[in-house]
Amino acid sequence: MPLLTEKTLAGQRALVTGGSSGIGAAIARAMAEAGARVAINYLSDAEAAQKMVDEIHACGGEALAVQADVSQEQEVELMFGILMERWGSLDILVANAGIQLDAPFSEMTLAQWNTVLAVNLTGQFLCAREAVKEFTRRGLIPELSSAAGKIICMSSVHDVIPWAGHVNYAASKGGVLMFMKSLAQEVAHQKIRVNAISPGAIRTPINRAAWETQEAEAELNKLIPYERIGEPMDIGHAAVWLASDASDYVVGTTLYVDGGMTLYPGFQEGG
Ligand code: BGC
Repeated sequence: MPLLTEKTLAGQRALVTGGSSGIGAAIARAMAEAGARVAINYLSDAEAAQKMVDEIHACGGEALAVQADVSQEQEVELMFGILMERWGSLDILVANAGIQLDAPFSEMTLAQWNTVLAVNLTGQFLCAREAVKEFTRRGLIPELSSAAGKIICMSSVHDVIPWAGHVNYAASKGGVLMFMKSLAQEVAHQKIRVNAISPGAIRTPINRAAWETQEAEAELNKLIPYERIGEPMDIGHAAVWLASDASDYVVGTTLYVDGGMTLYPGFQEGG
């Protein structure tokens, strides 16, 4: 049973980067359910992206798959070119593509550092820049949305929770926090809304080790006051709301969707 039954995004065109798996796939599904046309960007798994497209078509929605490495300027420009050709414009960007390359700090290679920053932070810059150009060119279409465009940056609870062993990842998400706020401040007068979602532990391939066994999941739950791991659709629903006019006055905010992970659970009894 879909939890959001209204077609709040009817007629809108959304691009979800990293949309073929994990959180991105749930957002793509949720936006399609809400009536949006969805472009599913993927890096290498063409088959998974096509499966998503077929699934959305089977439910009566409209989708297309588009390959691009979001850290590469030319590939991002080409991807937006394809979307403009197919759809004429874009209404929603979900800058979701992200990776983890974990290592103890003194063993972290420059390549691990650079790749994580390139995908998680530079990738958001490159995609958001193309989206802002298009929203600016196109302006407001009042019958579609009260905003001229919406950008949702995928961040993480690790934009505020330090994370030993994951310094590159936490640094990239800390960067997303101020990237999002500064951009939101810059373009709000154009009626472009920029916000972020910071998921906690969500059941996806990126953190399989943290939920794969009962013991691991029990350990993980100690960090989550709500005592359950998040499901990808928890983020899908939040993204639909942030992209819809129901959140029209929400500008430059990070929405933590984390079961309370950012509430310092250690202080439930300590302190
Ligand atoms: C990471 C996951 C982790 C979660 C909570 C996310 O940003 O990608 O691996 O489980 O934060 O720590």
